[in-house]
Amino acid sequence: MAYIYKVGIAGAGLMGSGIAQAVSAAGLPVVVRDVSGELVQRGLQAIRKGFEGRVKKGKMTAEQLEQKMALVSGSTSLADFSDADLVIEAVPEDLALKKRVFAELGAATPSSAILASNTSALPISAMSEASGRPDRVLGLHFFHPAPVMKLVEVIPTVRTSQDTLDTAVSFVEGIRKLPVRVRECAGFLVNRLLMPYVGEAIRGVESGAASKKEVDEAMVAFGMPVGPFLLVDTLGLDVCTKVAVVLEHAYGERAKPPASLKKLVDQGRLGMKSGAGFYSYSEAPEFAVGPEAPQGTFRPERLLFPMVNEAAFCLEEQVASPGDIDLAMMAGTGFPQRTQGPLHYADSEGLDVVLSKLKEAGHAPCPLLERKVAAGELGVKTKRGFFEYT
Ligand SMILES: NC(=O)c1ccc[n+]([C@@H]2O[C@H](COP(=O)([O-])OP(=O)(O)OC[C@H]3O[C@@H](n4cnc5c(N)ncnc54)[C@H](O)[C@@H]3O)[C@@H](O)[C@H]2O)c1
Repeated sequence: MAYIYKVGIAGAGLMGSGIAQAVSAAGLPVVVRDVSGELVQRGLQAIRKGFEGRVKKGKMTAEQLEQKMALVSGSTSLADFSDADLVIEAVPEDLALKKRVFAELGAATPSSAILASNTSALPISAMSEASGRPDRVLGLHFFHPAPVMKLVEVIPTVRTSQDTLDTAVSFVEGIRKLPVRVRECAGFLVNRLLMPYVGEAIRGVESGAASKKEVDEAMVAFGMPVGPFLLVDTLGLDVCTKVAVVLEHAYGERAKPPASLKKLVDQGRLGMKSGAGFYSYSEAPEFAVGPEAPQGTFRPERLLFPMVNEAAFCLEEQVASPGDIDLAMMAGTGFPQRTQGPLHYADSEGLDVVLSKLKEAGHAPCPLLERKVAAGELGVKTKRGFFEYT
């Protein structure tokens, strides 16, 4: 296993600057590269602003801020990656661009350097091939805001070496984050599980079963930090649509994006950043997703059971272990701690209940869920479900 002494970041945008802040906060030197001096400066300013926020909150001193900033440098030249042990790519979500960047990084860095992608949903295997050293490539998927969010999905491809994986996991722990190992698949783990949940929220409102506000309030009452409509508005509807397209391509009918997502993007309503998404944050009128008739019958399980179903598919495909799935959803989405995660939640609701409700709502249940119910593994009440209970 190698040790990471210096980190490079390709792309000084929202994620690149956030990741750079997290790396320097942990005491490691980091060089951030973008395509123009102006963009590099904007990235450096964002990092400084991030630290200033911590100073204001009394979490660090002004002197510590300068010490952390001294570890950060900006560059437009690939030559500044020549002594990096790890480069994390955070350029826009476009496979052709990312492949070009990986080819450049393969040539510009030492042959021992690890190259990681922060892609939300694109195939890391395809990027790894372009680098010329696929055994040193993997996914390191940070969540927004990167300085705050603890979870990092660590995604080895079929070509990633064990040494690369071990080094990357130890690096993530070293910057005081929580690495969760995820087998490469479309959407990886957290986004893959989040989309059926969000999709069902939107479809529910489209059909007039509840209002946006009612759904958001119900999910907050369940314990989520924000409701699904506010979540999508925060993440950006364009970003969510890109992920949804990848998921639909990979998983077909069960991952079909709801119609209003595309309608809103076509109208330029991209969420908070554009002043309007599902909700309006400006003069723009509210968007009517459906009849908006509150029925008073909305139950969180309507969104949570499709998430559990997708988690069962992930288990069947060995994307992650049951414990890691629960941990990742709590750390990555704020799934309430008291439930111990979506799989523990399903166990306590009863897998027979989950299965019958999924069928009732017209979802195609995961075969693993059907087999567990057939075998009498119904969760807490039979002492065996996704987990064992004594
Ligand atoms: N925004 C999120 O919430 C989020 C969360 C997790 C992962 N991601 C992923 O992170 C990646 C970056 O997203 P973002 O939101 O930071 O995008 P962004 O548009 O804010 O930043 C991308 C930056 O990359 C720069 N860039 C373009 N070509 C480059 C090149 N050849 N070399 C170096 N820099 C280059 C751009 O100028 C820009 O500054 C995407 O793959 C995205 O899917 C985003």
